[in-house]
Amino acid sequence: MIFGKHIRLRGVEPEDLPFFVQWLNDPEVIEGLLFLAPLSLEDEKRWFEKLADHSPAERPLAIEIRDGDAWRIIGNCEFHNISQTNRSADLGIFIGDKSLWNHGYGTETMQLLLKHGFETLNLNRIMLVVYDDNPRAIRCYEKAGFVQEGRMRQAKFKQGRYGDELIMSVLRSEWDAKHLLEE
Ligand SMILES: CC(C)(COP(=O)(O)OP(=O)(O)OC[C@H]1O[C@@H](n2cnc3c(N)ncnc32)[C@H](O)[C@@H]1OP(=O)(O)O)[C@@H](O)C(=O)NCCC(=O)NCCS
Repeated sequence: MIFGKHIRLRGVEPEDLPFFVQWLNDPEVIEGLLFLAPLSLEDEKRWFEKLADHSPAERPLAIEIRDGDAWRIIGNCEFHNISQTNRSADLGIFIGDKSLWNHGYGTETMQLLLKHGFETLNLNRIMLVVYDDNPRAIRCYEKAGFVQEGRMRQAKFKQGRYGDELIMSVLRSEWDAKHLLEE
């Protein structure tokens, strides 16, 4: 498990699937995601079964926060498209419990994933794609150290219109420099 100050990241278990189904059928949660509801529990079960084929580094992780003496799942995150040659990867995240948005959990998750990606997976570049009309996500990624490096014009079609997607990334050298400053 990967432990942070307020959260921990662990492997996804079958018991998590009903939470994902609930959250990924919520129009507000998926507004910034590729998902097109409706999604059934059977769909999620099939997705879960295929995870065994993913490399361990590309399996999704459940995001949990403390709930008294226990831990409570609030969302999930994952690395994908890991390239051994380029030492690069993409990141994805959602926090499904909307009452917990803007509490800093997204930023802490991204910080933990960056540390894991650079220090454990030995990556050199970590990137993500975000819709330009998702200011909460953009701000969260900026706080974690991501910089905008490109705009894909009219790359997504959602709710009857085209919108732009932003490419954001962090390089290992930038992350190292940031950490040296923070020490
Ligand atoms: C995007 C997401 C992961 C961010 O996680 P989070 O825990 O809510 O984010 P954080 O609290 O760490 O940071 C959010 C920041 O955005 C700011 N923010 C929120 N709404 C904003 C808005 N409309 N305009 C500008 N900033 C905004 C918050 O104030 C906070 O910044 P601050 O700490 O400087 O005040 C989460 O909201 C989420 O999962 N949303 C639904 C799915 C999604 O969009 N995923 C991302 C796909 S690319």
